[in-house]
Amino acid sequence: NTILFGNAGDYWHIPFPIGSNNDFRSHARAVRSMEMRPDDILICSYPKSGLHWQQEMVHMLMQKTSEITSGETSMGFLDMMPQAHFKALPSPRFLVTHMPYRYVPKQAFEKNVKIIHLERNPKDVFVSFYNHMNKNVPPLDYAGTFEQFFYLNIEVGYYYGDLFDYLMEWQTGKEAHPDCPIFTSVYEDMKLDPIGGVKKLNTFLGTGCSDELCEQITLACSFDKMKEHKEKTAQPEMVAMFKDKKIPFYRKGDVGDWKNYFNDAMNDEYDKEYKRRMSDYKTVYKYTL
Ligand code: A3P
Repeated sequence: NTILFGNAGDYWHIPFPIGSNNDFRSHARAVRSMEMRPDDILICSYPKSGLHWQQEMVHMLMQKTSEITSGETSMGFLDMMPQAHFKALPSPRFLVTHMPYRYVPKQAFEKNVKIIHLERNPKDVFVSFYNHMNKNVPPLDYAGTFEQFFYLNIEVGYYYGDLFDYLMEWQTGKEAHPDCPIFTSVYEDMKLDPIGGVKKLNTFLGTGCSDELCEQITLACSFDKMKEHKEKTAQPEMVAMFKDKKIPFYRKGDVGDWKNYFNDAMNDEYDKEYKRRMSDYKTVYKYTL
């Protein structure tokens, strides 16, 4: 268990964060039934899909500024924070979650809240997740090899549950709400055309930023600029969560790093499982650019 699940102590078997009150189930129920406001903006993604990048761009669009702001601190993280925190946030609220579709606030779909569903090719997600978790301090550190981590993800699922299930469940959820404004944002597409991506977000969110401002926001959020800024301004509590005192939210920012981690057998297994479980999935991922 130590190798497979990390040293997560008493809750090694729980694939979700323990929430705001040490009881994931009651936390998740509170999130599912929380009161949403029609002008909320919600980003949903499986971990390591580029949420920090996306949330910074969205927050800057909302604030109409090209200064890197505090996307990290002004958003409400549904997975960990208590409900009182969200209630106190001024409108328009900026909310983010890694929770699977089944725990996403029901009212988001009833009140037509604008949702960004962010996704990234699963091979790079596994690599990014591994590099995140094996730098974590206990109880969430992962002590195994990448190969073990890969098979754990493919066969069982990891923190936040199985990635393929997560994606398929979201796809079903989107299809069940055709009238809901849900924008699918794909990491690789944003890497290919970041200015075009920011402009699309601006249009979707109705944030009304000029093309020039969208271009400035894109530049301010380039990997190098964001990494430099975030490393300078990281909160000590965040830094303390990682063994090497570096925040893994800004590691490489590439498409295709999986090639440095996957061997042929892992690649074959991935292709086989993807074909078996994801053949109906609509997004066609780019694994290299
Ligand atoms: P890598 O570990 O592959 O480098 P999340 O924010 O959801 O935890 O995702 C983290 C991933 O997004 C990391 O991937 C990180 O480097 C990448 N990332 C962060 N900022 C980025 C940026 N400005 N441009 C591209 N990728 C970025």
